[in-house]
Amino acid sequence: MIILSAESSCDDTSVAVTEDGRTVLSNITSSQTDIHALYGGVVPELASRSHIQAIMPRADLAVAEAGVTKADVDAVAVTFAPGLIGAVLVAVNFAKAAAAALKVPLIPVHHIRGHIAANYIAHPSLCPPFVCLVASGGSSMIVDVRGYTDMRVLGSTRDDAAGECFDKAARVLGIGYPGGAQIDALARSGDPTRYKLPRSKVAGNPYDISFSGLKTAVVNLAHNAAQKGEQLDLNDLAASLCAAVSDTLVSRAMDAALELGYGKLAFAGGVAANSVIRSRLSEESGKNGIELFLSPLELCGDNAAMIGCQGYYEYLAGVTADSSLNAYATMSPDSRYLHY
Ligand code: KG4
Repeated sequence: MIILSAESSCDDTSVAVTEDGRTVLSNITSSQTDIHALYGGVVPELASRSHIQAIMPRADLAVAEAGVTKADVDAVAVTFAPGLIGAVLVAVNFAKAAAAALKVPLIPVHHIRGHIAANYIAHPSLCPPFVCLVASGGSSMIVDVRGYTDMRVLGSTRDDAAGECFDKAARVLGIGYPGGAQIDALARSGDPTRYKLPRSKVAGNPYDISFSGLKTAVVNLAHNAAQKGEQLDLNDLAASLCAAVSDTLVSRAMDAALELGYGKLAFAGGVAANSVIRSRLSEESGKNGIELFLSPLELCGDNAAMIGCQGYYEYLAGVTADSSLNAYATMSPDSRYLHY
């Protein structure tokens, strides 16, 4: 089954062609980093406009690079939630038009489910059930992937996402945008014990996460240092921040993997590119006899191939939408709360 898929939920415009879920025939992604770097963060209005300009040429490229014709497309899959609403709407409207013009089914895909599915592309042997740690610019959660379309969110952030914490820290420290990858690079030659940063626990659910205290701690460190005219060691601070985020996420992911007993743990989302968290997860998984699934860096960030992959499994489960499909800014990937 050939699926044409589209993704525009934040600052990447991506169109892909996949076959039977896991085979990627093309995956064309254009980043808006240059546009937003000027402002130190994503400007929603600029993101929407840029998606509108980029999506049709990316679709033509994706079809050409896949070596198929439009007549070969069996279905169109699209991220319909969550994300910046004006941005999500661009791919949703593109997909509705494409599905109508090609007379094929339209498949709505939840963005986080797509991130989880990136692991199926990277690992042909991976199939549910498994536990997935998801960390991106907008989400941080531990998901019980009971089936391809049957998911339970065990815990999630009550405030900021891990990526948001990295990006905000990078901004106040003047490291640039987007900050996560640069903090990761700085951390490689830093001392993770130099700055004492908080590891929050949340009452009520051991799997819930909070990063707002950590984010504020870094902002306060930066402001205090500026007031006193002191210089922070950016390598040490980046390493200390990565260690704090890693401790918070890895302990919860391990506890969940051990409690559910599937023996399999995957890591998904833009923050899954982080080298400190990846190596801590490898270490802990090894100690606990859990098989760990990490994706190559190009599949960690937003891309349409992961949407096509998850779209295939949603389609097999009977999930399709008509032209009334709407976009949603917020929605849980949990099967109990997901709606179209
Ligand atoms: O999944 P993604 O591309 O977009 C969302 O769906 O949110 O994630 C983007 C986030 C940004 O916050 C970015 O700073 C972060 O992923 N990120 C990283 C790294 N690479 C990207 N964070 C930590 N370490 C990295 N190497």
